[in-house]
Amino acid sequence: MQLTEWIGKSKNIFTHSDLQFLLRQFFCDKDIFLKQKNIFLDAARLRNLEAIKKEYKSGMPLAYILGKEEFFGLEFNVNSSVLIPRQDTEVIIEKAIEIIKNNDLTTVLDLCCGSANIAITIKKFFKDKIKVWASDTSEKAIETAKSNVKFHKVKIDLRKGSLFAPFRSRKFDIIVSNPPYVASREIKGSLKYEPRIALKAGLDGLYFIEKIIKSAHLYLKRNGFLVIEAGCRHKKPINSILEKTGKYEIIECIYDYGKNFRGIVLRVHR
Ligand SMILES: C[S@@+](CC[C@H](N)C(=O)[O-])C[C@H]1O[C@@H](n2cnc3c(N)ncnc32)[C@H](O)[C@@H]1O
Repeated sequence: MQLTEWIGKSKNIFTHSDLQFLLRQFFCDKDIFLKQKNIFLDAARLRNLEAIKKEYKSGMPLAYILGKEEFFGLEFNVNSSVLIPRQDTEVIIEKAIEIIKNNDLTTVLDLCCGSANIAITIKKFFKDKIKVWASDTSEKAIETAKSNVKFHKVKIDLRKGSLFAPFRSRKFDIIVSNPPYVASREIKGSLKYEPRIALKAGLDGLYFIEKIIKSAHLYLKRNGFLVIEAGCRHKKPINSILEKTGKYEIIECIYDYGKNFRGIVLRVHR
């Protein structure tokens, strides 16, 4: 079968971007879409593509089928032990990069790192100008993070442990975190393929956000920053947590490409 014919039969099953990503990965060729007319699928390739299509139709996210996801123009290894990096998190990284640049910051912690997509993206941007630490409580997530650190050939201090436990006496210029923030009742649909440990955060999704805000100031240098991702309904409750905590100045709220509240930038005042 010609690849063009297979694409014609499959384009209603995959989203356009997933179909493009699948074929780029499958043929290890970023221009495969332009060359499709000249490509013949032999029996083995056709069988593989059909097997992927079947899994995808059952609801399995493409990133888990392929073991890869693109994020911020970079490729990351993913598996069922880590969250699939989301486009929404790119706005958090863009903000963190802006803050690091404008304030000449040099020490960065990616808390709840999963695949280490945040830590690696920031490290690749600033290279030797900064030192980056990343941590996660899940052993398997740390293994995946290690494979990504190796793949991207960057130096990141990876540590396993719950929240700030691995950093007892260390202070950072900036902490960036995309913690679990999904309310238990909202873990449904395709989210059920992702690790619950990466999503579940109590009845309101605020369990980790509150814990991090309450402790982060102890791990930040004077005037250090906390950039934290949150859910679109978390703006008001975060404000209440901040009023009670009284340790930070709100620098700004972060909105995603759909203009939804997606996180907040805080600065310790001490
Ligand atoms: C929403 S995922 C974020 C992953 C990655 N930073 C990203 O942006 O795709 C949250 C991560 O927090 C980790 N996690 C859950 N509980 C934790 C805890 N108590 N301490 C540290 N990490 C935790 C999970 O294993 C998961 O990797």
